[in-house]
Amino acid sequence: MPVEFRSLLRTEQETRSLGRYLGTLLRAGDWIALRGALGAGKTTLVSGVVEGIHPGTRGRSPTYVLVEIYGDAPRIVHADLFRLASPESYESLALDDLAEGDAVVLVEWADRAEERLPDERLDVELRYLAPDAGSGREIRITPRGDRWEAAASEGAFDRDRWHDVLHPGN
Ligand SMILES: Nc1ncnc2c1ncn2[C@@H]1O[C@H](COP(=O)(O)OP(=O)(O)OP(=O)(O)O)[C@@H](O)[C@H]1O
Ligand SMILES: [Mg+2]
Repeated sequence: MPVEFRSLLRTEQETRSLGRYLGTLLRAGDWIALRGALGAGKTTLVSGVVEGIHPGTRGRSPTYVLVEIYGDAPRIVHADLFRLASPESYESLALDDLAEGDAVVLVEWADRAEERLPDERLDVELRYLAPDAGSGREIRITPRGDRWEAAASEGAFDRDRWHDVLHPGN
């Protein structure tokens, strides 16, 4: 069983900050698969990642177009599978082609195409702490494959590192 890292994200700002931090870890070829109920904070985290990689670029919610592309070197491919008609239609998004060369790929609603995602990826799940939308969230991160297991063993997801990310200066 891969290790799972957990943390509380008490506010939208904390979700964004953690996203920015994950952005600094990403290298060309990396995939992040995001899961979590409607409104759990997936797009918020992605927009943090986008800011972390290309400061000043704003992430959008690609719910209607399914895929958005931001920036260059690395190009960020942001997919949202919520409206995917079936797991088979995943192929028509051509994410593997878009990912070719210098790109990182972030996939919301990854569970809609579970079997089709690369085995080497960072799994991120967001959960509500309480039923109301304003409640904080819990994030669970599972590194999969050599690349992410190495990042984990180098301490990328250690509690003290996260603490500094979420509460800079204290
Ligand atoms: N840690 C947090 N605590 C409280 N609110 C948060 C937190 N993180 C994000 N939010 C808020 O949750 C709301 C929904 O966020 P977001 O759009 O990112 O969710 P989503 O998972 O992408 O939703 P969808 O399933 O529709 O794609 C936003 O209003 C955002 O500000
Ligand atoms: Mg979203």
